[in-house]
Amino acid sequence: MTRSLVQSQFGANAAAYATSEVHAAGESLKMLVGMADPQPDWTGLDVATGAGHMALAFAPHVARMIASDITEEMLAETRSLAASRGITNVETAVASADRLPFGDGAFDLVCCRLAAHHFAEPAAFIAEAARVLKPGGTLALVDNVSPDEVTMPALSRAGARDASTLYNQFEKLRDPSHARALTTGEWVKMIGNAELRMVAQCVIAKEMEFGAWVRRMQCTTDTVERLASMLEHDAAGGRGHLADFLMPRRAGNELWISLRELVVVARKSA
Ligand SMILES: C[S@@+](CC[C@H](N)C(=O)[O-])C[C@H]1O[C@@H](n2cnc3c(N)ncnc32)[C@H](O)[C@@H]1O
Repeated sequence: MTRSLVQSQFGANAAAYATSEVHAAGESLKMLVGMADPQPDWTGLDVATGAGHMALAFAPHVARMIASDITEEMLAETRSLAASRGITNVETAVASADRLPFGDGAFDLVCCRLAAHHFAEPAAFIAEAARVLKPGGTLALVDNVSPDEVTMPALSRAGARDASTLYNQFEKLRDPSHARALTTGEWVKMIGNAELRMVAQCVIAKEMEFGAWVRRMQCTTDTVERLASMLEHDAAGGRGHLADFLMPRRAGNELWISLRELVVVARKSA
């Protein structure tokens, strides 16, 4: 089997995700555990686990976690992080989000954090998550979202669409394996279509230091310049609303931008 763009991109940068502060200590990590209300007898599945931060955060609260990902190098990072923390109830499995190799109703919890914007078919992932959940099981999801008129009420619908297109171009330039960050409205609809009942949702801002963000993906100098110029052009009243969404600002020598994460807990009917 040939390696996909995702596997090449993440395979080459796997170690950076074990130490990345946004992934290892981001606000949504604890928030999702609190919102999902995990129970000691649960078996959970973390989809697209990366270096395993979400699976390892749930592990002390449940009986067993399976940390799954399509990239073997990431699963090696998960195993080594689990071992370094003395966590013994996390196993790893190679799995593609849109074809989970598990039986119907196998899990009490399916979680997925900061990964679905890489999925070619997020609706297939949600359908698979619903299939492998037990009746009454919990879906716990976090992902970066694109702007829409709800997250950016100052924009018209056309302005929000424009900001969304530019934001996804910006992300894809930094990481070619980025597929598309959905809007909050698209997620809510997709989760409802899979007959999962929304229990809680919120959107939180995430402050990113631009330099660390581009280094994690080993962007070339040319790519970094093109990304910075997209921001500057837009902030200077260019073609769209990218800067309205990302709010670039300088702090000393550092450039900071804001991304938005949607945090969702939904339940399958009992
Ligand atoms: C940013 S990392 C995940 C971060 C991690 N969940 C966390 O909370 O720290 C994105 C991961 O998604 C995985 N991935 C991308 N597309 C996938 C797919 N279709 N199926 C399974 N994993 C996928 C990549 O291999 C990568 O490890």
